[in-house]
Amino acid sequence: MSKSLAVKIIEQHLLSGKPVAGEEIALKIDQTLTQDTTGTMTYLQFQALGFPKVKTKRSVAYIDHNTLQVGFENADDHRYIQTVAAKHGIYFSRPGNGICHQVHLERFGKPGETLLGSDSHTPTCGGLGMLAIGAGGLDVAVAMGGGAYYLTMPKIVNIELLGKLPPWVTAKDIILEVLRRLTVKGGVGKIFEYTGEGITSLSVPERATIANMGAELGATTSIFPSDHVTYEFLKAQNRVEDWRELLPDQGACYDEKVTIDLSQLEPLVACPHSPDNVVPVKSVEHIKLNQVCIGSCTNSSYMDLMKVAKILEGHTVHPSVSLVIAPGSKQVFTMLAENGVLSSLIQAGARILECACGPCIGMGQAPVTDGVSLRTFNRNYQGRSGTASAQVYLCSPEVAAISALTGHITDPRSYPPVSVEMPFSYHINDNLIVPPARPGEEVEVILGPNIKPFPQNTRLPEVIKGRVLLKMGDHITTDHIMPSPAWLLPLRSNIPALSDHCLTPVDKEFPNRARNFKGGFLVAGENYGQGSSREHAALVPLYLGIKGVIALSFARIHMANLINSGILPLTFVHKEDYERISLEDELVIDDLHNQVLSGNTIAVKNITQNFSFKVRLDVSERLRHILLAGGLLPYTKGTAH
Ligand code: F3S
Repeated sequence: MSKSLAVKIIEQHLLSGKPVAGEEIALKIDQTLTQDTTGTMTYLQFQALGFPKVKTKRSVAYIDHNTLQVGFENADDHRYIQTVAAKHGIYFSRPGNGICHQVHLERFGKPGETLLGSDSHTPTCGGLGMLAIGAGGLDVAVAMGGGAYYLTMPKIVNIELLGKLPPWVTAKDIILEVLRRLTVKGGVGKIFEYTGEGITSLSVPERATIANMGAELGATTSIFPSDHVTYEFLKAQNRVEDWRELLPDQGACYDEKVTIDLSQLEPLVACPHSPDNVVPVKSVEHIKLNQVCIGSCTNSSYMDLMKVAKILEGHTVHPSVSLVIAPGSKQVFTMLAENGVLSSLIQAGARILECACGPCIGMGQAPVTDGVSLRTFNRNYQGRSGTASAQVYLCSPEVAAISALTGHITDPRSYPPVSVEMPFSYHINDNLIVPPARPGEEVEVILGPNIKPFPQNTRLPEVIKGRVLLKMGDHITTDHIMPSPAWLLPLRSNIPALSDHCLTPVDKEFPNRARNFKGGFLVAGENYGQGSSREHAALVPLYLGIKGVIALSFARIHMANLINSGILPLTFVHKEDYERISLEDELVIDDLHNQVLSGNTIAVKNITQNFSFKVRLDVSERLRHILLAGGLLPYTKGTAH
C-alpha cells in the first residue's frame, strides 16, 4: 500500500504497536526540546527519574519565554536549567538566542527525525519534514532518558494545496483558512500532511508558520515533505548534510483529504477570542488599533521581518498605535542589523524587543484597557495578552505592518506588493548555544530558593470521594487553569505559590474551595485544557488535591498531563449528566481499580443529588495502569525496578 510521509517516519521509529488509527503506538524519539516555562519541571522530573545522561541524539534547553529580569526567581530558574543541562548532556540555548521553535528550525531540525518538545508549538519543525510533537514535560523527561513516547495513532489527513498565493496573501492566511474550515477541535487525533503543487512555492519558514498553527487545530502534528525547498533552506543554514529527500509515496493513502486552492484565498484575520474565529480582513477594516505586535514562533523569520521592513521603510507608525517587533532569533536579528533594515524599523517608530516570546506569553506589552491589539501570533485567548478586556486579532506580518501605518485593520491589497527573496546563506553563529559538559567534567546543579519540589502522587485508593469544586463551560484553556502572564512565568518552579492562582480567571474562589474541601473533582465542557502544553495545569490541581476531571471532551496534551499526574480524565457518557451536576455536589467512585481495569465506563455516584451516572475512560490499558499507579513517575520508577 502506498504510504504517507507521516506513516513512513512513524514506521521507522516504531517501538511497539501498529500504525493503525486509534491504536496505541510507541515511538523512539531522536530529539527533544524544552523551554524555560515548562523546562524547570521537566528537568526536576528527569532528575527524579534518575537518568544520568540523555540518550537522545540531540536535546536542547531553550530560555525564551520569560527573559525579563523582574526578580531573582527568573535568574535562578535560568541558572538551574543551564547547570542541569550541562550535567546531563543537554545543549543550552541562552536567553537572547531566540524562540525555541525558530532556533530549532534553523539549527537543529532534521528531516525524517522525531522531535518531542515540552511546548505545544513543537510541530513547527514539521515545516522541514520532521515528525515533531508537543507533549507534557514528564513525557519529554522520559524520552530524554531513552524511554518511548506513547500516543494514540492519529488519522493522517492530507491537505492538498493547489495553485499559487495571490499578492498579499501569505502562509498565515493558509493556516487561518484551515482553522476557519476545521475549527480549534478539527485536528484532534490527526496529523496534517501537506502536499500538492502549492507547497513548492512555500519556503521552509512559511511551511513552519503553517505547521506551527496546526497546534491551534488541536492536531498531533503537521508535516511537509523534505524536497528541494528544504534542501535550499538547510544549505543556506550550512547544514546540507542534514538534508535527505522525504516524500509520500505516489498515490499515498490518507484517512481524510482537504483541498485548498491557494489562488482563491484572501488576507484573513482571526477575531477575538479564538484562533478559529476567522474572517476576511476586509470585513473588519474599520477597527481602530491601539497596538500591533510582530513576532512569535509563528511569524518572526528573516523573510517575515524583511517584508515588514519594506512596508515600513520611509513611513511612520500611526500616532495611536504602539508597534512592537520581536525577531525570532539572534540569527534573524543579526541579519536585520547587518543589512541595515533594522534601521528602517527603528526609524519608522517600531519598538524593537528582545528575541523571545515576549508579548505572546504576556511578558510585557499588555494592551491598554479595552484596547485592540493586532498580532502575528498564534493565540488570542482572552487574557493571554495580560489585559483581560483587550481584543486581540491575529493576522500575517504584512497585514500587521500596513495596519500599524494606517491605525486600523487594513486590507493590504490596494498597496503595491512587496517581495523578498530567501537569502542564499543565513548568518551562522551558534555562540549562544552552550554545549553540555565534557565527559569527566564536574558540574554542580544549582537550585535557587524559588525552585520547590513538585507534587508527586501515590497509588490511587480503591474509593475516590470529593466535591465538585468548579463547574466550567467549553474550551477552558491551560491559560485559564494556570494563567501565564502574572503568575506562571515568575512562579513556574514553585507549585505551592502557583496554587493560589489556579483557575482564578474562571472562579476566584476555586483555590480556597479546593483547600476547604481538601480536593475533589472538576467538571468541564468540551475541549478542556486546549492550548499550551504547560504541565503546571495538571501539577497545580494535583497539589490542590484534585482527583478527577469530568468533561465532555479533552485536549490531547492536557489529557496526557492529567494521566501523567494520576488525575482521572473522565468524559460524560450522557451529555445530560453534565447539566445535572451542581457545584459542591459530593461524588464517589467505588471499586476504582476494578472499574478502571475492566472496561471503558465507570460508575460515579452523586451522593448529594442521589443519582448515578456513567463516565468513560477512553485510554489504553497501559495508561490505566499508569493512572492507578498515581502517574507516570511512580509507574516508570515501579516498572524500572
Ligand atoms: Fe513562545 Fe508564543 Fe510560541 S509563548 S513558543 S512565541 S506560542
